[in-house]
Amino acid sequence: MPKTIFLGSDHAGLTLKAALCAHLAAAGHDVADLGPTEAKSVDYPDFAKLVCNKVLDTPDSVGILVCGTGIGMSMAANRVPGIRAALCVNEYLARMTRLHNDANVLCLGERVIGTGLAVSIADVFLETAFEGGRHQRRVDLIESCGLAAPL
Ligand code: RB5
Repeated sequence: MPKTIFLGSDHAGLTLKAALCAHLAAAGHDVADLGPTEAKSVDYPDFAKLVCNKVLDTPDSVGILVCGTGIGMSMAANRVPGIRAALCVNEYLARMTRLHNDANVLCLGERVIGTGLAVSIADVFLETAFEGGRHQRRVDLIESCGLAAPL
């Protein structure tokens, strides 16, 4: 099922982002590359914020964020309320974070995994549906982690 996908990176994730955009567009998804477009040094939180806000504004969309390790992007994205970003290094993590966490942003590290594996992780992430049930309660509780404890 084709999805709307917003992608962003920093300079260290530029090459992998381009490969993912090409693969996902060829697979029939609606792909929007939110930058950057050139290899000059940029700050990954800026692009995390851009992609996360588009995901929140666009029903049924997902985000893919790429930096050198994927760690900075996942830290930044998870500060945005409503975003559940998962840094994945294999297909198992991609499948489980969709099934159990209803992750809406996938983070990848260009300096950590190869393009073939990254593409395969993205495919699994996009084709796996949230299981719901008891996991919905836990996903709802994730948002409450950011709120002050009741007196
Ligand atoms: C950039 O050098 C690097 O720090 C960034 O891409 C990322 O790995 C941060 O977590």
